[in-house]
Amino acid sequence: NRRITVRDLAAAKERGEKWPMLTAYDAMTASVFDDAGIPVLLVGDSMGNCHLGYETTVPVTMDEIAILSAAVVRGTRRALVVGDLPFGSYQEGPEQALRNATRLVKEAGVGAVKLEGGERSLRQTELLVSAGIPVMSHLGLTPQSVNAMGYRVQGRSDEDAHRLVRDAKAAQDAGAFAVVLELVPAELAAEVTRSLHIPTVGIGAGPDTDAQVLVWTDMAGLTPGRLPRFVKQYAQLRETLGGAAKAFAEDVTGGGFPQPEHSFS
Ligand code: KIV
Ligand code: NA
Repeated sequence: NRRITVRDLAAAKERGEKWPMLTAYDAMTASVFDDAGIPVLLVGDSMGNCHLGYETTVPVTMDEIAILSAAVVRGTRRALVVGDLPFGSYQEGPEQALRNATRLVKEAGVGAVKLEGGERSLRQTELLVSAGIPVMSHLGLTPQSVNAMGYRVQGRSDEDAHRLVRDAKAAQDAGAFAVVLELVPAELAAEVTRSLHIPTVGIGAGPDTDAQVLVWTDMAGLTPGRLPRFVKQYAQLRETLGGAAKAFAEDVTGGGFPQPEHSFS
């Protein structure tokens, strides 16, 4: 009855076992995923888009990540909870990264943090790891750089592919315990996965990474509008929840709720 650790994930790669990761932003949803046996929950800065109503992940603050990470930790017993370091919380340098990562570990109780960038975040990763904070690195499409890179598949040219391989090695050498590969060609993700001894976690990176992650509101059909092609929807929560709200509204306006069994005399 202990939590999953980064060592369990390393062992899974050795055994050739794949594992799932989902995002979570609140205690109740996190408890559903924990009960379902999802071993790793990411309190992603995707909360900006799908929980806080921002247009990108860029405005998300440390306070927001800390509060929601604490909720996810409280809602779970078994999952490893990974807190995302938001834009502006580690780019200044290793000390800033350590201060903010420490806050997530102490205040929120996360078991690991994630940050974007390989070589460009090398010193941050090294300092966090040496302080005893497990680091997940995030490569390929890195949404905190949307203003510079846009949203498109990464690593398509030979030069970009080589850079991605170098970044992945740099993250591993700096002590990262896993690497997220977002929106990169499947063959390149497979190559990176073979060349690393730490697990790769793919999103839009094909079938050959060691793990797969999806944003929970995407995979459960709660996100409105068109979804990226790499998403598979496993439920239609938007329809289900909207239907429940409409039924409640009709019951109230039509006098069907509450009934005697919902009332006190
Ligand atoms: O914030 C997030 O949800 C992420 C995952 C997509 C990896 O970074
Ligand atoms: Na993120």
